[in-house]
Amino acid sequence: MPRTVETAPSPKSHIKTLMRIGYTLNSAIADIIDNSIAAGSQNIDIYAPPGRKEPLISILDDGCGMDLDELTQNMRIGCKDPYAEREKGDLGRFGSGMKTASFSQARCLTVVSRKEGQPLVAARWDIDRIEEMDSWCLEVFDPAEVTQIDGLSPDFPVKCGTQLILSNLTCFDVGSHALDHDTELASRLSELRSYIALHFHRFMSGPDKRAFTINSTPIEPVDPFMTRERRYQEGPSERMRCKGGHISIKTHVLPHFKYMNAKRLEELGGADGITKNQGLYIYREKRLIIAGGWLGMKPSSQLGALARVQVDIPSSLDNDWSTDVKKASLQIPVKVKRGLKKFLADPVKRSKKVHRYRGKQEVANEFWKICEDENSQTITYQIDPDNDQLREILRNSDRETSVLLIRYLKLLAELVPINHIYEKMSERPRDVNQQNVDLSALEELIEKVIAR
Ligand SMILES: Nc1ncnc2c1ncn2[C@@H]1O[C@H](COP(=O)(O)OP(=O)(O)OP(=O)(O)O)[C@@H](O)[C@H]1O
Ligand SMILES: [Mg+2]
Repeated sequence: MPRTVETAPSPKSHIKTLMRIGYTLNSAIADIIDNSIAAGSQNIDIYAPPGRKEPLISILDDGCGMDLDELTQNMRIGCKDPYAEREKGDLGRFGSGMKTASFSQARCLTVVSRKEGQPLVAARWDIDRIEEMDSWCLEVFDPAEVTQIDGLSPDFPVKCGTQLILSNLTCFDVGSHALDHDTELASRLSELRSYIALHFHRFMSGPDKRAFTINSTPIEPVDPFMTRERRYQEGPSERMRCKGGHISIKTHVLPHFKYMNAKRLEELGGADGITKNQGLYIYREKRLIIAGGWLGMKPSSQLGALARVQVDIPSSLDNDWSTDVKKASLQIPVKVKRGLKKFLADPVKRSKKVHRYRGKQEVANEFWKICEDENSQTITYQIDPDNDQLREILRNSDRETSVLLIRYLKLLAELVPINHIYEKMSERPRDVNQQNVDLSALEELIEKVIAR
């Protein structure tokens, strides 16, 4: 039996790996918000004030908070067993999100917290210090020092809550002027607002409603299915049982672009964004993880632009679904893929139908039909392609003649003298008589053409 040698990673090197797990600013803040939600917060405020020479990002909540022992324990990377069962609604899994998400964006993470009936406590990971000491040296604040922490919110909840302060930021390519950070910051915060509005939209309305703000401005939810819009279509849904929990599947079809409210359309990235983001929307404990794409289960298509399939999974299935540390990706288990496939066809078929809808069609007679298109608010008199005589002529014509004939018929229909007809029908309705159509000139023309 070989002997074992204790070879823990060097903190100085290990921290560099932890800083590069692959979070974006959006996915990092989302992972931090997960903790605030799990802590039962009703208000989650993101604050990144402009005009600071040393910018910082703060996330403040009014959840259950932590006492000093809990805080010290929870500051440890891997503080919880990823296989341990979590309470329903707990969005955590790996015991590392708060730290790794923060390290991906900032070299300094300060956590200030208060549990009900307990004093305000604080602890800090400073990567400069970890590297310098080559040790996991957590800084724990004395009660008197806590109130002096740079960035501590004046709105810190009286009863309980937690504030994360990310400072010494690495997420911006900051220039030497405060103005440079501010422009960059404003644009990143605007992207973050859209990301949170979409990924946490189910926590912004209904029974789970909580208030979210960025720099004191409320975040309004973005519903990717436009369920409240006129002409939204709800499709089939099902609850699937699988080992360890239930999966809910629900299908949606968005209204045609032409009916979408301009603001809603813009929120979802315009017609291009909506087309690109067709597909599966996978929620873990109501938090959106995958926002569109068919995950290789079917190709995207222009006509499928309006199709959406909502999949809800509990966190108890994390292992089967290979939820990643960042909560930004999942793998659908093969068995579930098979069950899910049958739900993909319906919304795509309906999306195609919405796109192809040519309007209400009324047959005027066997030669003409009247098309009323509500999309474009138009009424068009068209030559009926189903006319037997027309079909017979086309069958007996070569391709070139058929093309010429169809072009001629198109122009004939386009140029029906509608205004003139309208005028005469209003002035002398009884005198308009199409029974008197004289074809002799046309018959003469045929003779001439044949004689040539
Ligand atoms: N805002 C908060 N309020 C109260 N407790 C918190 C808060 N943030 C973190 N915690 C506590 O710290 C623990 C560690 O958080 P962390 O995000 O590192 O891991 P996790 O949430 O358990 O799992 P994951 O790595 O999947 O996010 C949490 O499980 C929770 O008990
Ligand atoms: Mg977490």
